[in-house]
Amino acid sequence: MSTSTETRRGSLACVGLGMTLGSHLTPLARSHITQSDVVFAGLSDGIVEAWLQRMHADVRSLQPYYREGKSRATTYREWVAVMMAEVRAGKRVCGVFYGHPGIFAWSPHKVIEVARAEGFHAHMEPGISAEDCLYADLGIDPGRFGCQHFEASQLLLFERRIDPTGYLVLWQVGHVGDQSLARFRATGPAYRQLFVDLLAQDYPLDHELIVYRAATLPIQQPRIRRFALRELPHIELTAEETVVLPPARAMKPNQAVRARLAELEAMEAAGEPA
Ligand SMILES: C[S@@+](CC[C@H](N)C(=O)[O-])C[C@H]1O[C@@H](n2cnc3c(N)ncnc32)[C@H](O)[C@@H]1O
Repeated sequence: MSTSTETRRGSLACVGLGMTLGSHLTPLARSHITQSDVVFAGLSDGIVEAWLQRMHADVRSLQPYYREGKSRATTYREWVAVMMAEVRAGKRVCGVFYGHPGIFAWSPHKVIEVARAEGFHAHMEPGISAEDCLYADLGIDPGRFGCQHFEASQLLLFERRIDPTGYLVLWQVGHVGDQSLARFRATGPAYRQLFVDLLAQDYPLDHELIVYRAATLPIQQPRIRRFALRELPHIELTAEETVVLPPARAMKPNQAVRARLAELEAMEAAGEPA
């Protein structure tokens, strides 16, 4: 690790392209792309990749590293390795990822960490994520009741505390329970039933479940489908969808804290230091 303030030749920027082709790219992300020597693309589809290629002559797709039966963890380590090889060769490297490069995305965080540890300049430029589109399209303000986000398999595999008085946003539900990380197809109804059983500890089975897909092409509209929680095992679900459970219960006032606050306010009113 470099201890001097001097950084080595070669640099890295991981930028987000946003969700909707053409309309979400920020001027700063665009300038990172156009000013780099080599661009690596971790994008959702070929049309978006073709659009990126119009911005730079050397766009290298990261898609071929995926393979059915190969763990995505291996693929993501390979992405870090190919990007770092060019950084170490002294190139200005730009990694372009759909949405926000730092949201539910391991490689961009990792490659920045590795580049910095080796003394290279590395930067993450945010983008409009599925989460941002979801708030706009579903009319949800996460500040109203609070909002928890979980990766679906993590929620299934670890003991987490769900707060059903706020919104619950579930990512990668299509792959819920896939411990191999090697499947391309969605996991089956039995896996999702396990997930429903877990959620049913906090939500009634007829609770609303929203399946949301943000528009990725300008000609598309967002897709919003509403179901009952119990239907989840049997609905068609793609890898590009996020699931939302609205609050199931009213927030409960914290009477103990309110009483202590009232005491503080009374002390202040009496001129005592609170
Ligand atoms: C690996 S994460 C990538 C998220 C991305 N970095 C972002 O900023 O939105 C993939 C998950 O993002 C969500 N996702 C991807 N595309 C989406 C879309 N078009 N609409 C809604 N959610 C989407 C799904 O939950 C999917 O399982």
